[in-house]
Amino acid sequence: MKITIIGTGYVGLVTGACLAELGNDVFCLDLDENKIALLNSGGIPIHEPGLEEVVARNVAAGRLHFSTDVGASVAHGVLQFIAVGTPPDEDGSADLQYVLAAARNIGRHMTGFKVIVDKSTVPVGTADRVSAAVREEIAASGATASFSVVSNPEFLKEGAAVDDFMRPDRIVLGHDGSAEGLRARDLMKNLYKPFNRNHERTFWMDVRSAEFTKYAANAMLATRISFMNELANLADKVGVDIEAVRHGIGSDPRIGHSFLYAGAGYGGSCFPKDVQALERTACQFDQELLILRAVEAVNDRQKLVLGRKVVASFGEDLAGRHFAVWGLAFKPNTDDMREAPARVLLRELIDRGATVAVYDPVAMAEAKRVLSLDFNAAELARIEFAASSMGALEQADALIIVTEWKAFRSPDFDQIKARLKQAIVFDGRNLFEPEQMAANGIEYHGIGRSVLTRR
Ligand code: UDX
Repeated sequence: MKITIIGTGYVGLVTGACLAELGNDVFCLDLDENKIALLNSGGIPIHEPGLEEVVARNVAAGRLHFSTDVGASVAHGVLQFIAVGTPPDEDGSADLQYVLAAARNIGRHMTGFKVIVDKSTVPVGTADRVSAAVREEIAASGATASFSVVSNPEFLKEGAAVDDFMRPDRIVLGHDGSAEGLRARDLMKNLYKPFNRNHERTFWMDVRSAEFTKYAANAMLATRISFMNELANLADKVGVDIEAVRHGIGSDPRIGHSFLYAGAGYGGSCFPKDVQALERTACQFDQELLILRAVEAVNDRQKLVLGRKVVASFGEDLAGRHFAVWGLAFKPNTDDMREAPARVLLRELIDRGATVAVYDPVAMAEAKRVLSLDFNAAELARIEFAASSMGALEQADALIIVTEWKAFRSPDFDQIKARLKQAIVFDGRNLFEPEQMAANGIEYHGIGRSVLTRR
């Protein structure tokens, strides 16, 4: 099939590359000339495992094209995917200006029938606004063209996006039931046929429900994490091991094992933004989502948990102290620093007078960029960007782990002890067993595990 993807950001690029991998002829549009030049020269603007290979393979096969030509992009695909950013507005609601601009471009240039697929995460009612924008442009141009807007939210996890796309657990699709909607449904069914070989993975519903499903999923997952974080903080106080509790409750199939890990708080581009946007939607309909308000507040507090543990050990004034920080990206397998808990920790350590040496296996370049915005020059001078995880430890008063990269899971504990000034580890992702650390002669502070540390 001929497909156009508008926006070569994280979602657009993964979607375009993976649809080409299925044999489709994909045209990716972006207005950012630098990005298109980079893609056309074989580069990839984001770190995403496996993506570079898929892009290279499909470009070579002539199935994947990158361009800034709006007219050509509209002419190319009968399916027009909108996968542009929806950054939060000042009040937390999703900013739809890029989505609506993309819709207008389609309306302005289209001639025949088009299916407009909302891939971006957009609030309930957006498909109606997209339809109105397209209709206005068609009327203005005087063309005779028909279309249907389909909602098809993405459920891609950063760091596992190619795999999530190629092996989806569900494909959510919303159409409006009109004649054009049914025509769109048939085309989308065809597109996703390769995923439905063994069993049906597509769920058809009305457009609004599809739009809502995305927010409901992310809000539910964020809620689980914040709930576990609250339990972990209580576990620390009452002498309970949160990891034992996690196994104990996760084995109940009604609860399940996924997304039950207490830690240093959730970050990234989706959970924080989507929780806020859903709260804003509720507000607009005179409803208050009390649970989500708490989810957000708990997460803001959880990002401070490592700093609080450091202060409990070293005191409020950290002047003259030096700390090693492992893990800067908001989670492993990505270089994304958006809403990363490490940024909150660094702010606290620097404000309290400490110096730090930071290391991340992939996110160093992005960290330099982002931290140079977070901190002024004098503060930045107190942040050393270390060349290796072990290099970051030299003469540090403690090691603080914020992101659970695989490379941090089996370190040489003797080396850690030899390099640190004091053998103290604060572990924001519960990578190690407290007993194992005690046996290694390391003072260990996990999340919700202090009962084992005390023992
Ligand atoms: C999320 C959704 O999972 C995905 O379906 C959606 O399309 C986009 O948002 P992503 O933000 O890439 O994906 O990361 P995810 O793996 O979901 O993790 C989000 C955050 O939660 C990370 O900061 C992670 O460290 C944290 N987390 C996750 C926990 O603290 N505990 C857990 O048990 C799981």
